[in-house]
Amino acid sequence: MIFQDETSALAAEAALSIAMAEMAPPGVALACRLIRPGDENRLLPEESRSISARQPAARRASGAARSAARTLFSSRGITGAVIPRAASGEPLWPAGFSGSLAHDEQMAVAALSAGIAAIGIDVEPAEPLPPDIAAVVRTPGDVTGGIDPTLADRLLFSAKEAVYKASFPLDRQILGYEHIAVDLANAKGVTSLGRRARLSWFLAPRIVVLAICEADARADR
Ligand SMILES: CC(C)(COP(=O)(O)OP(=O)(O)OC[C@H]1O[C@@H](n2cnc3c(N)ncnc32)[C@H](O)[C@@H]1OP(=O)(O)O)[C@@H](O)C(=O)NCCC(=O)NCCS
Repeated sequence: MIFQDETSALAAEAALSIAMAEMAPPGVALACRLIRPGDENRLLPEESRSISARQPAARRASGAARSAARTLFSSRGITGAVIPRAASGEPLWPAGFSGSLAHDEQMAVAALSAGIAAIGIDVEPAEPLPPDIAAVVRTPGDVTGGIDPTLADRLLFSAKEAVYKASFPLDRQILGYEHIAVDLANAKGVTSLGRRARLSWFLAPRIVVLAICEADARADR
């Protein structure tokens, strides 16, 4: 999806913002930002150092995502929150907070909580997933239920990324798609380590999935 002009880009940002506010479960705040030229300059110095090896487009997306996260801190009266990237990839949140970041080619999203052990978020264009990628993502334990079949694999992909981002800070384990089973009919995911996540999502104006992991939410092995 390429925006025709600035007006349609801003309208897309506003539509996504509304959808995210409607989806946000209790205890989790969500925000988005259209990735704009110069957003790399929104990285604070410590953040910039933590992702210094990355290409300009990736730095721009990371700056937009952190800018979205800072709006969530600001609404709690906290200014200048610093969110560096750990060597293992995950964002490092100020003490007392958990959160997650994601970006596609146009939009950046952020999730923030003060009471939940770990959360994961993902954003994807609402377009079919290429079949070769879908073949890697989908495993026999996955359930897509009544989801629009043209978007089911993309939603599954996004859900697994969100579950991974939520589980990693708790389990410190790199997982593949085959290590995460997602049941969209029951809005849940579970990792091969037994870490359970509750899922929320929407498919339009683009796909956003939120995964919530409670610290003690382990499935029976
Ligand atoms: C986490 C990961 C899946 C993100 O995928 P992506 O499509 O490249 O990027 P997204 O836009 O969805 O998310 C990027 C954000 O994820 C976050 N992230 C990266 N590694 C993370 C981790 N280990 N735990 C939690 N969050 C992580 C970062 O905040 C990053 O944003 P930043 O670079 O601005 O700091 C990928 O970086 C990764 O670690 N892959 C290895 C494992 C894997 O791919 N398994 C299959 C999926 S289950």
